[in-house]
Amino acid sequence: MRSIITGTGSYVPPRVVTNFDLEKIMNTSDEWIRQRTGIIERRYAESGIGSSDLATEAAKKAIEMAGLKPSQIEFIIAATLSPDHYFPGIGVSVQTKLGLASIGALDVRNQCSGFIYALSVADQYIRAGTFRRILLVAAEVQSANLDYSDEGRDMAVLFGDGAGAVVIEAYDGNDRGILSTHLFADGRFVADLWMEKPSPKDRPVFKEEYIRERRYFPRMDGRSVFKNACEKMPEAVRLALSHNQLTIDDVDVLIPHQANERITQMVAKNLNIPIEKVIRNIDRYGNTTAASIPIALDEACRNGKIKPGNIVVLTAFGSGYTWASAVIRW
Ligand code: UT7
Repeated sequence: MRSIITGTGSYVPPRVVTNFDLEKIMNTSDEWIRQRTGIIERRYAESGIGSSDLATEAAKKAIEMAGLKPSQIEFIIAATLSPDHYFPGIGVSVQTKLGLASIGALDVRNQCSGFIYALSVADQYIRAGTFRRILLVAAEVQSANLDYSDEGRDMAVLFGDGAGAVVIEAYDGNDRGILSTHLFADGRFVADLWMEKPSPKDRPVFKEEYIRERRYFPRMDGRSVFKNACEKMPEAVRLALSHNQLTIDDVDVLIPHQANERITQMVAKNLNIPIEKVIRNIDRYGNTTAASIPIALDEACRNGKIKPGNIVVLTAFGSGYTWASAVIRW
């Protein structure tokens, strides 16, 4: 039994925020952002719109492409670091917004690697015969809580909002489908990319001093993230290829997590894969964390870059640290 992706979808909020727009609200420049990240613009959701809303729109498109009715979905897996609420996760809200009753909804919390982690969970359920049709959504609304001061500008320029979704179905042949997923983590680096507060370890959880110290905003050690992302993504891809007795020449399409154009270029160079085979859309959306791979996957499917029989490789790296790879024969 193999898992195949039968539908993809994506949705980004309509509001475009350019580097020039950011210049007006913070101390940065279009030139700095383009040179250091490759980002030209990103999307921001309006107040009142949450990750579950974006996820639901992406899900509808994926279900439609799969040729299914929402009621045929048997299980939902949702990946996000920016749920609508501290708890519960967004899977349950997506379930309700799609009008589905009582099917299970699982949230995974693996940040930029969230989509591949979720894909691996879906793949195991399908292979085990537990479910035959799973909806996987990945969505982020990050713009609401970025630090637009000098202290947080390294992160504020990077991140955007958006959602991607896939429908994964059981397939009785073995000529296509998810060939493997490999997952990794190194918790020594928790504080290198995190949102430290609010933390239920504190009494009380919300403190005036934390607001003054701007500790409710996400923070990162950009250089450490950059260095590790450039090493770990190629490592994960090499392992995945050798696991499947494939070489880099067999890869038709590589979709790395869209973290930074410079990271993508380094990953492509390290792997010695022609850049034309690498899907890149960070210029338009910035880093949409868990949603970045499924948005890129959906665009690549819809514009014909991915064709039946292609070997498609996914890889991600992010907060945790966590990183991952997946190999799919389309
Ligand atoms: O999904 C994973 C999420 N995170 C990432 O992927 C981030 C990985 N890291 C990166 O992409 C890069 O480290 C950054 C793009 C965040 C930063 O690039 P960098 O080349 O490592 O720059 P830097 O941190 O060494 O900063 C260089 C200068 C500093 O000024 P000084 O100390 O040289 O005067 C920063 O204060 O650039 C300054 N700077 C900015 N200037 C204008 C930092 N952010 C900005 C900004 N606009 N937004």
